[in-house]
Amino acid sequence: MQPMKNEQTLYVRVSEATILATGVRMLRLRACAPTQQLPDFTPGAHIGVSVQLQDSQKEWRQYSLIELEHRDRLTTPPESYLIAIRLDAKGRGGSRYLHEGLNVGDIIDITAPRNDFPMRSTGKRVYLIAGGIGVTPLTSMAAACKFHGRDVKMLYAGRERASMALINELQTLLGEHLHVHADSEAGAPVDLRALFDEFTNDDDIHICGPGALIDGMIVEAERRGWAHGRLNFELFSPPAATEGDSAFDVVLAASDRTLHIPADKSILEVLIEQGCDPMFDCKRGECGVCSTAVISGEIDHRDYVLSERERATHSVIYPCVSRSKSAVLVLDL
Ligand code: FES
Repeated sequence: MQPMKNEQTLYVRVSEATILATGVRMLRLRACAPTQQLPDFTPGAHIGVSVQLQDSQKEWRQYSLIELEHRDRLTTPPESYLIAIRLDAKGRGGSRYLHEGLNVGDIIDITAPRNDFPMRSTGKRVYLIAGGIGVTPLTSMAAACKFHGRDVKMLYAGRERASMALINELQTLLGEHLHVHADSEAGAPVDLRALFDEFTNDDDIHICGPGALIDGMIVEAERRGWAHGRLNFELFSPPAATEGDSAFDVVLAASDRTLHIPADKSILEVLIEQGCDPMFDCKRGECGVCSTAVISGEIDHRDYVLSERERATHSVIYPCVSRSKSAVLVLDL
């Protein structure tokens, strides 16, 4: 993730660092000067944080903003930003930098808050489904629901309680309306069919978690004939390469170039490497910004934008995540 063109960046100071759970560190970020006011945000918003990777390269990572107590936006600006970082021991070093390379008092640059996962407010009840560190934006939504007196329920799932951040805080906030599911205690992951049986037509359903949870929810929603888009969700990390991915070629018809896409890179990554300057934002197949017309070839759709009917036309690809099932894919680029 890079800051979008015209996206505001600002310097903030780490004012507090705490271990919330095994492998999860919380950072509180405050304005560097007392006169500086942090930009406001709404539940579901994230900031970009500049990190240093193992190879000393600088990159940006997204973290959702946590609010345990909702504020009246009209009268109270945010005093600080709170983020939680799960350590990815196999990653490229971004989360390790935020766990081990930053101390209280250090100054880092961030992007101003942006909300690609706003809370819906049409239903009678808000149903929040968190998987692992995906709990962070949903915690802010839970706090907003309590503040506004909205009926709210949350399912918080994870492998084991010790690695699940914010359980106590959510219990205080939601009481009996929070259900914690630890796979290690239940002996199995969440039963999605049973979960769907609990939903009513009046629920605003929000999900944040790993791809497996979101994919499972989408499959179950489709099985039940739900309208595309009824689930409001956000992945907390970019999709990982899938085992069995293979290389293919992409032909850029307008510029008459052929690019080779290796098994471990996305089309978008290769386009950027080759200086094509494509439009993109989330890199997770959610926002739709990288939409590209396809002239021929069979797309391996992996985005969360298109409906099944739209996918069948093979006319649009989201090159940040989707690949090709045919040896050659011809793009209108
Ligand atoms: S960059 Fe968001 S869908 Fe591709």
